Amino acid sequence: MIVMGIESSCDETGVGIVAWDGERAILLADEVASSQDEQARYGGVVPEVASRAHLEAIVPTMTRAREAAGIDRPDAIAVTIGPGLAGALLVGVAAAKAYALAWDVPLYAVNHLGGHVAVDTLEHGPMPPAVALLVSGGHTHLLGIDALAAPIHEMGTTIDDAAGEAFDKVARLLDLGYPGGPVLDAAARDGDPEAIAFPRGLTGPRDAPYDFSFSGLKTAVARYVEGQVRAGREVSIPDVAASFQEAVADVLTAKAMRAVAERRVDTLVLGGGATANSRIRSLAQERADAAGVQLRVPKPRLCTDNGVMVATLGAHVIGGGAPPSPLTVATDPGMSV
Ligand code: KG4
Ligand code: ZN
Repeated sequence: MIVMGIESSCDETGVGIVAWDGERAILLADEVASSQDEQARYGGVVPEVASRAHLEAIVPTMTRAREAAGIDRPDAIAVTIGPGLAGALLVGVAAAKAYALAWDVPLYAVNHLGGHVAVDTLEHGPMPPAVALLVSGGHTHLLGIDALAAPIHEMGTTIDDAAGEAFDKVARLLDLGYPGGPVLDAAARDGDPEAIAFPRGLTGPRDAPYDFSFSGLKTAVARYVEGQVRAGREVSIPDVAASFQEAVADVLTAKAMRAVAERRVDTLVLGGGATANSRIRSLAQERADAAGVQLRVPKPRLCTDNGVMVATLGAHVIGGGAPPSPLTVATDPGMSV
């Protein structure tokens, strides 16, 4: 069975195609059109710009994916219905419905977050019960996973900014451009992660154990920079970047390890564009090794938003015997897991 996955929840128009052999998905095509360069002009994702870009890209991206996979049409279509930007989601869902109708193939509505977890099976095989840490410009979630086709348990999320968004905002206040993650990651290489003691949000004994908060950290960086400038002292960008990055990586990985222990699983999966961060990866690896936990990280190309993750989750859902979604299925921008 051949499954096409359509993703349009943020600024990537992704169309992926996988073959399902009854047990696992095999990648056949992975086409992504991104409006990130256009978004960079605005210093962040502008929903209206994203929707228009999806509208232009969706059909050509579907065509490229079918050509790459060497197929005329898939046997089923899976599409992200949420969470994500309302207008952006509508474009992918409208295309998925139209093609499902025209090709007379079943439609499966899937959750974007589950896709980030499912995609790891393409490289690393079947997914045992696990905890997933998803970090991108749009989301920060700790999820409990029993099985890919089963409901996901949301353990915690951010109460304000997403982790990637914090990188983007801090880079902006340091005048380093957009997206901020890669620039800060590079700058941090020459900095001292202990130079500045930035706060670790929501880590007090009475705080929600699995929720995150990054807006206080962003404000702390802004105050620090202002203070330095006011005092006539130089601001060391590498030190600020390294200390900020350390604070983010510390909180994310500490809470993830705690979640792994609570759920008594021995696998931690990372997903989302911000897992490209070198310190998040290395600290997660260090802490996983110390606890005897297996760390699974999809390759960077599959960590960022794409259609393959949607196709892969769709294949598992179909393989699990779930019925198709009606063609009237609605988008769900605030979808929980
Ligand atoms: O998954 P993604 O491509 O798009 C969504 O946000 O859904 O993730 C992009 C986010 C941006 O916020 C970007 O700054 C962040 O991931 N990012 C990074 C790194 N590379 C990308 N954050 C920290 N370190 C990086 N190396
Ligand atoms: Zn995502």
